[in-house]
Amino acid sequence: MKILVATDKPFAKVAVEGIRKEVENAGFELALLEKYTEKQQLLDAVVDADAIIIRSDIIDAEVIAAAKQLKIVVRAGAGYDNVDLEAAKAAGVCVMNTPGQNANAVAELVFGLLVFAVRNFYNGTSGSELKGKKLGIHAYGNVGRNVARIAKGFGMEVLAYDMFCRDEDIKADGVEPTCSVKMLYQSSDIISLHIPANKDTRQSINAELLGLLPKGAVLVNTARKEVIHETELVAFMEAHPEFKYVTDILPDNHAEMTEKFATRYFSTPKKMGAQTSEANINAGIAAAKQIVDFIKTGNETFRVN
Ligand code: 3PG
Repeated sequence: MKILVATDKPFAKVAVEGIRKEVENAGFELALLEKYTEKQQLLDAVVDADAIIIRSDIIDAEVIAAAKQLKIVVRAGAGYDNVDLEAAKAAGVCVMNTPGQNANAVAELVFGLLVFAVRNFYNGTSGSELKGKKLGIHAYGNVGRNVARIAKGFGMEVLAYDMFCRDEDIKADGVEPTCSVKMLYQSSDIISLHIPANKDTRQSINAELLGLLPKGAVLVNTARKEVIHETELVAFMEAHPEFKYVTDILPDNHAEMTEKFATRYFSTPKKMGAQTSEANINAGIAAAKQIVDFIKTGNETFRVN
């Protein structure tokens, strides 16, 4: 059995060692494809792979077709919008994620970006504090919960909206659930996005929603660029000179955003949220364990297709 780790953005070395241990202890072979620059390298590497561990790497129908022996793909992380689930299913390939394993790392980066934003990108001018501000968490999953926990340490008031989460569960964390997404935006000084990218959420963060925010609001996006309506965000920022946008996912219109809003827009150059040794170890080793278990016992917990 050959397990391929295909990561354009590599895991920390210590995580790869942990993955190797899991794979080799199970009697399987590990292959590594890191920092590849051409899709052809991925197509070549998957040819004899029985299982693949990926991050945001694109596994489309062409990759699935090239991987003749493939049985399982595990996305070491939360979002699986980078995998063609239908093509995988049609080819009899199981797709899983590793929910929660990198959530704390992403949540910590939310605050890295937020402090940077409210202190005016460290330009020396007088900024503001997070204490006492209302933080609206848009989607209360694993990352959202960690964001809520950390926000309380900053002395923030925490609100959340999640159509799939029961109010009682949100309240149990000392967080105030809002009855609608509109209410969340109306009631928050800062919004932190944690929605997945899918057909229902694509471009859903639009002018109408942003228009509900109070003056001087901040939007922090550690989720996906696809959920933002980029054209409407630009128009909104032009009309609202005190609004700030900080993101961990480079927008398609990064050059335009930088040129127009240099003092209130920031993006990391490459998604950094889950890029810690701890998150790499947690997600990478969980992925390896899930593959070994799936191959040896057929366990399909965490299957998403
Ligand atoms: C995820 O969905 O788990 C995060 O967005 C992290 O993605 P990454 O593994 O590409 O850093």
